[in-house]
Amino acid sequence: MKDPERWTEWNLRRASVVRIYECGDRMVVLSPEGEGHALAGDSAALAAAVLSFLEAPHTGAEVLAHVEALAGAPIERPEVIGELLGLLLRGRALETPAAPKPARAAGPRLVLGLTGAAATMHAPALIQRLQARGFEVRAAATESALRFVRAEALEALTHAPVVSAIWPEGQAHRVPHIELAEWADAVLICPASATTIGRLAAGDHASVVAAIALATRAPVLVVPSMNPAMYAEAAVQRNLARLVEDGLHVAHPARALEVADAPATRTPMLGGAPPPEVVVQLLEAIVRERASAVLTQVPRGAAGWDRLYRTHAAEELPWQRDAADPDLLAALEREGASGLSVLEVGTGLGALATAIAGRGHTVVATDISAAALEQARARAPASRAIWLCDDITETRLRGRFDVVLDRACLHLLGRAEAERHAAAMTRLIGAGGVLIVKTLAEPAAGVTQYSSATIAALFAPGFALEHEAASTLPGPAAAPAARLFVLRRAGARDPAVS
Ligand SMILES: Cc1cc2nc3c(=O)[nH]c(=O)nc-3n(C[C@H](O)[C@H](O)[C@H](O)COP(=O)(O)O)c2cc1C
Repeated sequence: MKDPERWTEWNLRRASVVRIYECGDRMVVLSPEGEGHALAGDSAALAAAVLSFLEAPHTGAEVLAHVEALAGAPIERPEVIGELLGLLLRGRALETPAAPKPARAAGPRLVLGLTGAAATMHAPALIQRLQARGFEVRAAATESALRFVRAEALEALTHAPVVSAIWPEGQAHRVPHIELAEWADAVLICPASATTIGRLAAGDHASVVAAIALATRAPVLVVPSMNPAMYAEAAVQRNLARLVEDGLHVAHPARALEVADAPATRTPMLGGAPPPEVVVQLLEAIVRERASAVLTQVPRGAAGWDRLYRTHAAEELPWQRDAADPDLLAALEREGASGLSVLEVGTGLGALATAIAGRGHTVVATDISAAALEQARARAPASRAIWLCDDITETRLRGRFDVVLDRACLHLLGRAEAERHAAAMTRLIGAGGVLIVKTLAEPAAGVTQYSSATIAALFAPGFALEHEAASTLPGPAAAPAARLFVLRRAGARDPAVS
C-alpha cells in the first residue's frame, strides 16, 4: 500500500488493461471486483489527461507539473492530483512500472495441434498466450478443427501456414507432418478430441495432428476436452491411460460448460480443457523438465545446441554468466589494453565477447548454435562484436587473430574434435599470438579435464604453454573449479596484425 502523503514520489504508469468507459461528460472507473466510481465534468477530463500522460512512466510530481503546464497555471489544490492517482490506483488503472524484461529471442518451438473439439474456438487466445511466454508457435489442425476456427485467423497470429493435411497441395517435395515433428521442441494437442485421443492410442497416423504427435521426439502434452459422458467412457479412459503409458503427457480436465446443452441449462462438468493460462503453465513445466534432463548430457551438433538454447532461459544454463570472468579479462589485458583482434569460440549468449568489444578490441564471436547467437544479439543490440555461426572443429574462418578465447568450449569436445580445434588454432592465431583457454577441473559427464601436460601436448608443436592457474567457471548457481591456460604461438607477433 502506497503512503498517500507521499503521492508526489509515486512512480506510476497506466496499466495495460483498464476497466474504464466514458459516456457524455462522465468517466466510470471499475475496480477489478466490478465496483464503479464515476467522475464527471472537469474531473473526468483531468483523469483522461493523467491517463494519457501516464502511458509512459512518471512520478506524481511529474504528473502535477504536466497538469499545471496543460492548465497554464499552478493548481490551487495539488492534493486533488494525489486523490485522483489514488483512485486510479485502487481501480488498477495505474500500476508501478516493472523493470523491462530482457528480449527473449529464439524461444522454444511449439506445434499446436487443434482438433474438432469445441474448445478449438479459443485457439487464438491460447496462441497469443503461448507467444507472450516466448514460444514460437506453428499450428496443425484436423479437418473438424477448422470448423471451429478459420485457418486465416491462426495464420494471422502465427505468421506461418496452418498444416491441415498429410498431403498438402502444391508442395510436392515436403512431408509437413515429419517436418513439423522434427522442428518442434514440444507438441501441444489442445483441445484433444476423443477421436484424436483414440488415434494416438492406436498409433493411427491418418490425421496430420496425430501423425505429428506420434512422429516427434519432443515431449507431447495432450489436453482432453469433451462432454463429461464422453470423458467418463471406458474407451476414452482406456485410451488416455495408454497415452500416459506410452510416455505422452496427459492433462487432467477442468469442469467446463458443455456446448451440446442449451445455453441456459449449462452447468460446469468435468471433461473440458483447463483455461489457456493453465495449459501454458503445464506446458512450460514439461518443457523445463525435459530441458533439465537434456542438461545432464552434452548436446551433439548444431541442432542439439540450438534446441538447448531455445528451451532454456539464460539463468538455467550452468555456464552462463552475464559478466566477463576477471581472470580471462586480465589474461587478455596482458596482451594489450585495446586494439587487439580477438576471436571468441563458443560464445554462447555472448557476455564475454560484448565485454571485450566494449574495451576497444575487434571481436569476432562464434558459436555452433544460431539460436544462441540470435539471443546474444538480442541481449546486447549495441555490442560491437561480430557474431558468426561457426563450428570451430570444422571452421570456415580465415584470417589471423592476436588472441583466441575459449571459455568452456574445448573441454566439451571429443578427442578427434579437439585435434581439429588445435589445428584450427594453428591456422587462426598469428605468430606470437595467444590462445586463452578455460576448462572445467571437476569431473562431469561429457567433459574432458585438461592438465598442463595434456593441453600442452594437444597444442604442440605450434604452441607452448606459457601460463596456467587455478580458476573457476562461475554460472548462475555455482562456480565449479576450473583451470586457465595461456598457450603462445611460436614467433614474434607480426606488428601489422596487432
Ligand atoms: C458442435 C460440436 C462440438 C463438438 N465438440 C467436441 C468436443 O468438445 N470434444 C470431442 O471430443 N468431440 C467433439 N465433437 C465431435 C468431434 O468433432 C468429432 O468426434 C470429430 O470426429 C473429431 O475429429 P478430429 O479428432 O479428427 O478433429 C464435437 C462435434 C460438434 C458437431
